[in-house]
Amino acid sequence: MKLLNPGPVSLTERVRQSLLQPDLCHREPEFALLQRQIRQRLCQVYQDCSADYSAVLLTGSGTAAVEAMVGSLVPRVGAPALVLANGVYGERMASMLERHGKPVQVLRGQWTDPLDLGAVHLTLEGSSFSAVLAVHHETTTGRLNDIASLGALCRERQVPLLLDAVSSFGGEEIRFADWNLQGCAATANKCLHGVPGVSFVVARRDVLEGTSHSPSLYLDLHTYYREQEKDSSPFTQAVHACYALHEALAEMSEGGGWQSRRNLYRQRMAALDRGLLPLGIGPFLEAGRSCILSSYALPEGLSYAQLHDHLKQTGFVIYAGQGGLSQQMFRLAVMGDLSAGDLGRLLAAIGSLT
Ligand SMILES: Cc1ncc(COP(=O)(O)O)c(C=O)c1O
Repeated sequence: MKLLNPGPVSLTERVRQSLLQPDLCHREPEFALLQRQIRQRLCQVYQDCSADYSAVLLTGSGTAAVEAMVGSLVPRVGAPALVLANGVYGERMASMLERHGKPVQVLRGQWTDPLDLGAVHLTLEGSSFSAVLAVHHETTTGRLNDIASLGALCRERQVPLLLDAVSSFGGEEIRFADWNLQGCAATANKCLHGVPGVSFVVARRDVLEGTSHSPSLYLDLHTYYREQEKDSSPFTQAVHACYALHEALAEMSEGGGWQSRRNLYRQRMAALDRGLLPLGIGPFLEAGRSCILSSYALPEGLSYAQLHDHLKQTGFVIYAGQGGLSQQMFRLAVMGDLSAGDLGRLLAAIGSLT
């Protein structure tokens, strides 16, 4: 089965085999070394992730990393945080802050629209905010939000930016200093090609060394940071998922890093577009698409269930649209171990239905 859902991804054989390494106690020096190497490698994925930043490794899915970041770094009192939401994951960060009882203002856009940077500019000029929170790649539609422009606004206003980069870290460009990034949350099992179970936040060291605002005992980034700096871990880590992440990071680095991965994804996405257009299936978004996932309009007379079930029988898992978009589109992600032959077979299987 090949997975075209946006994570978990189809594993390479190398990453799969790495799961079979010796059983390890997370309190032993062997795990301390593994954890240290993973944290270092995560900070080496992007060249401008300077010594001012550190990676904190968590056991949990991408949502755990986002909630740890939002919970620990956004203040409980004072100026509100500004959340930009043009999809499910922006809305999720707003819900997290509301549940944590933190002051928040949400700037909502249509899920099919880009971020309204003019409105962001006016909002930032009008009041002060503790932070701006945005989603880099809004997986809801496959939109790559314009974080370069948003980051420039944040830098100009000196407001820290917190980024949900769960579905973009390792596959699209992230600029730590230019974007005034205070932190970004991501996961092992999307563009990095690891297995589900571990996620992480790359955040500014000075912030991690300051006071935590976390209402949670388990998802307090500062606790993890303090312990991990001592080569320890406050709680049991997903040891085997760490083996896989370590191997996946090595594989990515040997393959040319995030730029090569982005090129590969772009080639795969172009092949899908080329194959789908003659079948009357076009991209749902006109512009601003990521190289990682694309949403496509469902053709007349074909339901998502029909498409999904037929493709699953042929050996492919695809993804539905979310919320109000579920009847209008389907989504294909190109992360993980996929060959040109796999994509050819996928296109032929879709073609046999249209
Ligand atoms: C942008 C974004 N943020 C957060 C998440 C949540 O990640 P998880 O399902 O691993 O908790 C996802 C999952 O697809 C995502 O795409």
